[in-house]
Amino acid sequence: MTRVKVVVLTGAGISAESGVPTFRDADGLWEGHRVEDVATPEAYELSPTTVHRFYDARRAALRAVDPNPAHTALARLERELGDDLLVITQNIDDLHERAGSERVLHMHGELRSALCRACHGRHRWDHDLVDLPPCPGCGVTELRPDVVWFGEIPYEMDRIAVELARAELFVSIGTSGAVYPAAGFVRQAMRYGARTLELNLEPSEGTVWFHEARHGRAGDLVPEWVSELLSRVSR
Ligand code: APR
Repeated sequence: MTRVKVVVLTGAGISAESGVPTFRDADGLWEGHRVEDVATPEAYELSPTTVHRFYDARRAALRAVDPNPAHTALARLERELGDDLLVITQNIDDLHERAGSERVLHMHGELRSALCRACHGRHRWDHDLVDLPPCPGCGVTELRPDVVWFGEIPYEMDRIAVELARAELFVSIGTSGAVYPAAGFVRQAMRYGARTLELNLEPSEGTVWFHEARHGRAGDLVPEWVSELLSRVSR
């Protein structure tokens, strides 16, 4: 094989070994919180304080975690493949970037970013939002977490459609396949001829759509797969 265009979709499972809780596992975030109380536009209208506290706590927790070998392996793959690799992540943490990846699309937004509901500006944000700080752009106190809530449209969907159509290999890592549109990417890529591979702790809800599935911890599976791919590919 000479070159291959790879699109990787990641979910909460890739950050689990770093200590970031997943959503739907036994000890996941949605066991302790109701989605409709913290992750919808309606929840924010009803109680911005509740929503801010939820995301402020998660933003603060990010400081205590580090990328794991799965993130590092994807950064290594990008160094080797360059533009031939794109990571689409559903995660709002910044562990891909901290591992060294640069070609990352955060389709569900980012914890370390605040979005102004008044001027629509986006600002790098490492502090709490619960005290309603003014927007650095317009001064209005309408900053919300720059994350995509249930009922909102994920970011970068046009670009993602183009990238999926170009992909020769689509790899899904650490996602339950329970949430659309990301859960449909495997079929989209497959329709355009991509080979598809799942790397997950257990079979995802969409596991039947993958040509191949490997089950285990991302910290083991991803470095193995990256080494295997790089032994077959040259730029
Ligand atoms: N290695 C690999 N996979 C793992 C690991 C691990 N160490 N630990 C858990 N997993 C798997 C679980 O088996 C599960 O299938 O990761 C998956 C995590 O699934 P979810 O908790 O549903 O997370 P995700 O798929 O990213 O959720 C999608 O739902 O709530 C929304 O917006 C939120 O982006 C999120 C979206």
